[in-house]
Amino acid sequence: MRTQVGIVGAGPAGLMLSHLLHQRGVDSVVIDLRGRQEIEETIKAGVLEQGTVDLMTQTGVGDRMKRDGFVHHGINLAFAGQMHRIDLHELSGGRSVVVYAQHEVLKDLIAKRLQDGGDLRFGVSDTKVEGLDTEQPTVSFQQDGELQRLECDFVIGADGSRTYTRFLIPEGTVRTDFFRQYPFAWFGILAEAPPSSDELIYAHSDRGFALISTRSPSVQRLYFQVDPSTNTDDWSDDRIWEELQARTSGAGATIKAGPIFRKDVLQFRSFVCEPMQYGRLYLAGDAAHTVPPTGAKGMNLAIADVHVLDRALGAFYDAKDTGLLESYTATVLKRVWRAQHFSWWMTSMLHTFPDATDFDLRRQLAELEMVTSSPTAAKTLADNYVGLPLS
Ligand code: PHB
Repeated sequence: MRTQVGIVGAGPAGLMLSHLLHQRGVDSVVIDLRGRQEIEETIKAGVLEQGTVDLMTQTGVGDRMKRDGFVHHGINLAFAGQMHRIDLHELSGGRSVVVYAQHEVLKDLIAKRLQDGGDLRFGVSDTKVEGLDTEQPTVSFQQDGELQRLECDFVIGADGSRTYTRFLIPEGTVRTDFFRQYPFAWFGILAEAPPSSDELIYAHSDRGFALISTRSPSVQRLYFQVDPSTNTDDWSDDRIWEELQARTSGAGATIKAGPIFRKDVLQFRSFVCEPMQYGRLYLAGDAAHTVPPTGAKGMNLAIADVHVLDRALGAFYDAKDTGLLESYTATVLKRVWRAQHFSWWMTSMLHTFPDATDFDLRRQLAELEMVTSSPTAAKTLADNYVGLPLS
């Protein structure tokens, strides 16, 4: 088989790139180890930056998001017995975020690719990429018991944090990994309950961090900081609701409980690999970088990467201009490191670190006080939260 761009991974980066390339007349094939159902049902975060929202709308995959997503103009920071609202919309000059689950974005992209005649291969195995130092790299894989071989001009590594493609960039001589682990995780739940708040609440408390998010008027997404070794079976529904209430009641929140139908523990890390390209391979999304979920940046970064990659590939196919491809890593790393800093900052400002001293606690509270009382500091948070414009 022959295509122009072979895309490994049908997550936000791979599917959005395939969609954008199609709109400029560039052909691609997307493969994924997972089945379509698993991709469409895996629960991830759910906050879309303004730039992601605009791109989805402008390229014809925003209808369901417009209908079922919720525009949020602000967020709340709860600490030291008070609730403080950050007016994202006003502080950022009219930008905001939309709460719409990542797997819903993936459903929309898959449906659109298939409607446009896109070639998506789910449930493949034994992926092997070769010839990255040539102009005709290949992607081979097994599908339905048959060996397939895809000849392409470019290979895109969009295969997520459990990536195979990242390791095609030789470590040490070419690739450097930057890494940070955190001494906590998030316990996440999905529950059938009414919203406890009109806008998200990020809560600092002496029992640890909690986040009140939402999915719809009848389904809520809530999280609280736990030890990374936590087993979900050790937490009954009652204990979970009590803990969420205890971490937010000081600031005046009333958590509305209901049947919990999903519990998971999310591990935390910050990671970047540099460079994000090697020969004819370009990495995008979690294959190249991971952020802790506190800033809600993961999917948005993936979308921002492929927005750059789409234009770089477009310049190559339109005018044989390789300039944007050559500068791909340098271009996207600016946003990646900005988001790394923001996610680390939100994480360290809001969580309880096991080795924290009273000094650390008071410093955190001083920081939260600054962010909620200084318009300049609040604007920094708002600008980062709604995201930089894509271009
Ligand atoms: C979510 O709703 O899943 C969510 C919201 C905000 C975050 C992280 C996750 O910062």
